[in-house]
Amino acid sequence: MPAVQSWDPTTYARNARFVSDLGSPVLALLAPRPDEHILDLGCGDGALTSKLVELGCKVVGIDSSAAQVEAAKNAGLEVCVTNAEALPFSEVFDAVFSNAVLHWIKQADAMLASVWRSLRGGGRFVAECGGHGCVHRIQAALVQALERRGIDGRARIPWYFPTVEDYGARLERAGFQVDSIMLIDRPTPLPGDITGWLETFAQSFLQGLSGSERQAYLEEVRSALKPELCDANGVWIADYVRLRFSAKKPAEQR
Ligand code: BEZ
Repeated sequence: MPAVQSWDPTTYARNARFVSDLGSPVLALLAPRPDEHILDLGCGDGALTSKLVELGCKVVGIDSSAAQVEAAKNAGLEVCVTNAEALPFSEVFDAVFSNAVLHWIKQADAMLASVWRSLRGGGRFVAECGGHGCVHRIQAALVQALERRGIDGRARIPWYFPTVEDYGARLERAGFQVDSIMLIDRPTPLPGDITGWLETFAQSFLQGLSGSERQAYLEEVRSALKPELCDANGVWIADYVRLRFSAKKPAEQR
C-alpha cells in the first residue's frame, strides 16, 4: 500500500517551510547563471522557484500536487501539474533542479530517464533529497506502532532513501556523469510539535485510522520519539540525512 499523500499549501507553509528555507546548499551547488533555462522538479508552492527567477533564470516548475501548483501560479510562476516520470520536454533545459522531492519517487529509473530527455547536452541535474537513514527513528516508531495494531507498517513506507552507491549507479546507468554525490547528516529542528510533521509528511501511515484511533496512534508515536528527538528546551529535532548530488548529461560528441 504505497502513499496516499496530499499537500495543502496552508498546512505546508506552517509545518514545512523549513524545507525550502534549508535549500541554500543545493542552490549553491546548482550555481545558476542569469538567463539559464531551468526546470524545478517538484516545485511545491514555488518558494525556491521564485529564488531562481529572482536570480534571472527562466524557470519552469512541475509538481504532482494540483494544490501546490495553484499556489505557485498565484505567486506568478510558470508551473504545471506533471509527474516527474513522464516529463513532456525534450532537450530544452540547461539544468534540472530538485529539492526534497526525489525520496517520494520510487520509480527512480523512469524519473532519471525523463530528466535525461529534458536536458540539453551538457546540461546538469542538481538535487538534494532524503538519503539513506533519513528519519530512521521516526519511520521505525511509525512502523512499530502500526505493527502493534496488526498492520503491516513497512508496506506503508512512502519514501525511498538511497545510499550514495545506489543512486550514483542509477545516475550512471541513465547516462549521467556524476560530478559529486554525498550523504550529509542534518538533524533538523522543526517549527513545532512532531505531530505537525507526522500529519504533513507521514499521511500514508495514517490511512484507515480515524478519530480517536488516529489520535491514539499519533500520541503513541510521539511518546516513543520524545526521549530521542525532543531536546531539553522542548524543540523537536528530526533525524534528517540528505543525499546531495550534481550530475551532467555529457555534450554530444561530434
Ligand atoms: C523531506 O521533505 O526532506 C522529507 C520528507 C519526508 C521524510 C523525510 C524527509
